[in-house]
Amino acid sequence: MARGQARRMIRLERVVGSLPADFPLLQAEARAGGYKMLDTLAAEWTSGRTRFDRPGEALYAAYYGATFAAIGGLTVERLVPGGFRMRRFYAFTAYRRAGIARRIAAALLDGIAGPRRIVTTNAAAGSEPFWESLGFLPDRRNGWTHTLAAAASDLNAPAAGV
Ligand SMILES: CC(C)(COP(=O)(O)OP(=O)(O)OC[C@H]1O[C@@H](n2cnc3c(N)ncnc32)[C@H](O)[C@@H]1OP(=O)(O)O)[C@@H](O)C(=O)NCCC(=O)NCCS
Repeated sequence: MARGQARRMIRLERVVGSLPADFPLLQAEARAGGYKMLDTLAAEWTSGRTRFDRPGEALYAAYYGATFAAIGGLTVERLVPGGFRMRRFYAFTAYRRAGIARRIAAALLDGIAGPRRIVTTNAAAGSEPFWESLGFLPDRRNGWTHTLAAAASDLNAPAAGV
């Protein structure tokens, strides 16, 4: 499938109220691969500790056609005044490299109001090329690995040829 056509198959839904019906499948794949971030997401969602509902925060589910394919969120970064942190990104292995997580990141950045903000992330081992492709730069401090000075829409300009 042409890249542009594949990207038109991607649809995002903001997660509010309850996690996606197929979230447990994604959680199980992540856990089997040694990733704990979706266990943490589920526990903090259930307890109400993190619901991605403060100003600027959001959690998005991505669907490829009708299939739940990935999740990712943004929360306030308590260590940086006015800053945010990308968290809980995970895509089913079968749906990787189709631009799905990038679409989630773009939507999250688009929801940040106001001036350029610092956005941090603690990149899981192996995910560094993903974050760096979005413009994040290595910056190992305070429990994060990368930062981006982001403005809304930075990632929404279509790449050349798409
Ligand atoms: C990291 C992850 C969320 C990326 O999801 P994805 O939907 O495959 O990412 P995208 O297709 O949007 O990638 C966008 C760009 O990032 C870069 N990229 C993504 N994955 C990459 C990889 N494994 N190797 C090299 N570059 C990569 C590429 O530049 C890619 O663009 P391209 O395909 O046009 O070259 C996914 O690989 C994943 O779930 N990994 C396991 C969990 C994890 O590490 N999560 C991050 C927690 S911090």
